[in-house]
Amino acid sequence: MAKEEIKLDENNIPNHIAIIMDGNGRWAKKRNLIKKAGHKAGADTLEKITNTAIDLGVKHLTVYAFSTENWKRSDEEVSGIMDLLRKYLRENIKTAKVRNCKVDIIGEKSRLDKDIQEKIEELENITKNKTGLNLHIALNYGGRDEIIRAVKKIADDCMDGAINCNDITESLFSSYLDTKGIPDPELMIRTSGEERISNFLLWQLAYSEFSFSDKLWPDYTPEDFKQAIWDYQNRDRRFGGRNS
Ligand code: FPP
Repeated sequence: MAKEEIKLDENNIPNHIAIIMDGNGRWAKKRNLIKKAGHKAGADTLEKITNTAIDLGVKHLTVYAFSTENWKRSDEEVSGIMDLLRKYLRENIKTAKVRNCKVDIIGEKSRLDKDIQEKIEELENITKNKTGLNLHIALNYGGRDEIIRAVKKIADDCMDGAINCNDITESLFSSYLDTKGIPDPELMIRTSGEERISNFLLWQLAYSEFSFSDKLWPDYTPEDFKQAIWDYQNRDRRFGGRNS
């Protein structure tokens, strides 16, 4: 029997969806492939989910591509991911004209290789006036690192007299984060059966709904993505209050 098509409420598409794309390594291991092959398949899935997000009218998509902790992996795996990133940036620079997608990076870019930083700048520049999906790629990103960097900048501004310590509010604090100006995610998806947030968007996920999928990221499909949105649309969000 054909599977029924998922009918989404077009007026209740999450404005911002965050994704932990987990399971590339296990996907490769199951096939006796090297880790890089898993990440390559993961990058292909990212492309499909990005296109689905554009089609559905999602305004912000934030994906965890490389964490501050991922440097601990073998040199071979790290350089494999960085090569895929180079390829991803090159291809996206080429296709930017035909895709209404604005790309930017969150995280500490200075530890990335110079040529990668240059390509990022180029892609951010050529997509900066796009009005469709805002794709935020988290690279050398850690939630705690982001918060510490924000606290340091706030402390500097307090010492310089640019702000007064009594002016520090949640919204001022948010404006010092890498995600300045980006609304908090309504929905966070993590694949591969793991149910934790692993230092991702620690501040921003305070009220997000979570969707955990047992599928490994390379196997995650646009239908799974739509199902996660359908589940979100059928949840009761109370933000600490009561709806009845
Ligand atoms: C987690 O799977 C995934 C990563 C650490 C890297 C994510 C990278 C990509 C999806 C591709 C590259 C991205 C771009 C933007 C080009 P894992 O390796 O931790 O999986 P495992 O837990 O099964 O080992």
